[in-house]
Amino acid sequence: MKLLRRSRPRRDTAPKSFRRRLYDLLESRHLRGWHFVVQSALILLILANVLAVVLETIEPLEKAYAEFFHWFEIVSVAIFTLEYAARMYAVTAGPREQFRHPVLGRLRFALSPLAIIDLVAIMPLFVLVLFGLDLGSLRLVRILRILKLLRYSPSMAMLGRVVYNERKTLTGALIVFLILLLLSSTVAYYAERVAQPKTFGSIPDAMWWAMAALTTVGYGDVTPITALGRVAAGVITLLGILVIALPTGIIASGFIEEAKRRDFVVTWQLLTEIPFFGSLTAPRIADLVRILRPRFVPAGEAIVRKGEEGDSMFIIASGEVDVELAHPREPVRLETGQFFGEMALIEKRTRSATVRAVEECKLLEMGAKDFHELTRQHPELRDSVHKIAAERKAYTGQPKPAPTEG
Ligand code: CMP
Repeated sequence: MKLLRRSRPRRDTAPKSFRRRLYDLLESRHLRGWHFVVQSALILLILANVLAVVLETIEPLEKAYAEFFHWFEIVSVAIFTLEYAARMYAVTAGPREQFRHPVLGRLRFALSPLAIIDLVAIMPLFVLVLFGLDLGSLRLVRILRILKLLRYSPSMAMLGRVVYNERKTLTGALIVFLILLLLSSTVAYYAERVAQPKTFGSIPDAMWWAMAALTTVGYGDVTPITALGRVAAGVITLLGILVIALPTGIIASGFIEEAKRRDFVVTWQLLTEIPFFGSLTAPRIADLVRILRPRFVPAGEAIVRKGEEGDSMFIIASGEVDVELAHPREPVRLETGQFFGEMALIEKRTRSATVRAVEECKLLEMGAKDFHELTRQHPELRDSVHKIAAERKAYTGQPKPAPTEG
């Protein structure tokens, strides 16, 4: 069975094109070496730009450093323009199919939200050159450069996806809010228009108060003074709490859903990268995905330690680990597609060895209960796993039984 093979997996050793290397430099999320330097420098430049816009609004500073701010803007835009051009050039070498075509792919990329944000970041200077506007009047557009950070923050991108996924429910909540706003301002108008004609003289006037009451801000500058108005205000404020809680709940549950979905996709991708699982049918993979949890481990971390209780096993989706055996044995190296941590589950003992990541690893973790269930359902899998475990045990030596309590 391929899952249990010991041979080295084939690696993609073809040299990467310049375009692909440039793509990785700008887009890779494995921030090491130059990737880290370039992407950190871009993030710092974005932050410095936003800070410059903020500081420019302080008059004495603007006067004292006008020249500096001007040149800083020009240099920043030059770098952002270069970045935009590099992204445009390299995008066709990326993994996303829809951007592969040299013309249509680039056009699609140019219309994607992040590329539009990149374009907006460099527009001000060109507008300045073409229409002779000054930097100050373009502050609002320049501050939008902060949106470039979206690319570097997965959680901000996730918030965007959650809002998009929940757009129908959120629109529903907004409609409820608008209906309540209209009804409350109408009630307040009828109750208060004689007592306070200035602030409740018309429904639009009363809306300002209703808005403050519904959002539970209640500034206190405008309050009903008639008995009916006050009763209505109490009810409206309570309804306001409910209405505000509604989108909060929608977004919170949307976040949980999205996180689950992302885990599902990540696990699925990792599984299909392992040769054995790659040949499984989609429903079988889906079954496995449900019982496997992806885990990312940095180089050097001990994943299991000798003598610990073992409640899960691991499949290596990428990377390598060392099984540290007792002296004088050399560590045994396990690589992509192999597994470890099964012995403790099969023999219901403590871990027989410490297993440490040699490099950054992607693992798929399976709990003991799921492991026993899976091997019960698939006797051929159980036999292979048990055979490997027996071989390992013969080599490693019999681990001491777990200490019994009492
Ligand atoms: P477990 O005892 O649960 O935790 C340590 C793991 O190291 C063990 O399961 C095996 O998966 C793995 N292991 C132990 N000995 C060897 C060996 N000789 N070769 C490869 N893997 C081993």
